[in-house]
Amino acid sequence: MTAVILDGKQVAAEIRADLAKEVADFVAGGAPPPCLTAVLVGEDPASQVYVRNKARACEKAGIDGRTHRLPADAGQDELMALIAELNTDTNVNGILVQLPLPTGSGVDYDEREILDAIDPLKDVDAFSPVNVGLLMQGRPRFLPCTPHGIVQLLGRSNLSVAGKKVCVVGRSDIVGKPMAMMLAQKNGSCGPDVANATVTIAHSRTENLAEVCREADCLIAAVGRPEMITGDMIKPGAIVIDVGINRVGDKLVGDVAFDQAKEIAAAITPVPGGVGPLTIAMLLHNTLAAAKLQSGR
Ligand SMILES: NC(=O)c1ccc[n+]([C@@H]2O[C@H](COP(=O)([O-])OP(=O)(O)OC[C@H]3O[C@@H](n4cnc5c(N)ncnc54)[C@H](OP(=O)(O)O)[C@@H]3O)[C@@H](O)[C@H]2O)c1
Repeated sequence: MTAVILDGKQVAAEIRADLAKEVADFVAGGAPPPCLTAVLVGEDPASQVYVRNKARACEKAGIDGRTHRLPADAGQDELMALIAELNTDTNVNGILVQLPLPTGSGVDYDEREILDAIDPLKDVDAFSPVNVGLLMQGRPRFLPCTPHGIVQLLGRSNLSVAGKKVCVVGRSDIVGKPMAMMLAQKNGSCGPDVANATVTIAHSRTENLAEVCREADCLIAAVGRPEMITGDMIKPGAIVIDVGINRVGDKLVGDVAFDQAKEIAAAITPVPGGVGPLTIAMLLHNTLAAAKLQSGR
């Protein structure tokens, strides 16, 4: 069997084109362009690239993408003051703090305190406790961008996991946990095709990981370890979603050994070009949703 390759780039382009039209309609109705403000602390090269890519994507969608830069040693108080200012600035609809915050400059940041300080109505990453809680309860305000992108990719590829066994490997607050929660929802609040899965969350303490993975009709790897999911861990005919982005030499590789997996799975995402492009598309989606919410408040 050779798997269907799920083209995240193509799906993201479709979403972004639809979104650009929605933004244009919103603005034509008299609203200012939605505004997403990224906060970048320090000079981490990867973070700079991410923020630049987000700003470019905003521009293409008609969204006002801004970046606030602070030096690595700005400190917790200065960063908290900036968040407070952005919270009250009515021109700003979405706030995102680029993670990870810097370490090693002699200044430590309390990431949790900073993320908690973002106004939940401007929390386009959906990291705040209020938005996480709403998602848990099946009435999300914003869906976290990477899991939401995966849901969109599944839905637009006509792949339903309802009633199926899904294994999510990884339990981070950003990917693994919200992904599992979205797929297990009863009410379809995260998309009609993603409710009602039977979800297992695996992690570094899972016993017999290969066996647990092999039971899954849909395997989602969000670990951060290059090619750790090998062919023998995949059920024949499974859907395989690879969230991992790992730099190995000058190449980017996923958490799944792609060449092995594509011979066993029915459908698989590549790295790069799979989940990655969808994350930014869903961030833009949340920014427009935030602008709409705030214009009605
Ligand atoms: N495509 C995108 O847009 C996108 C977005 C976000 C992240 N990512 C990528 O996705 C990957 C995961 O990101 P993350 O933020 O979720 O990472 P993370 O916070 O480091 O979490 C990694 C998870 O993997 C688990 N894990 C580590 N080693 C394991 C092992 N040997 N067996 C089973 N589980 C293991 C950890 O278990 P414990 O909890 O037990 O430690 C943890 O739950 C990274 O490569 C990241 O770059 C991509």
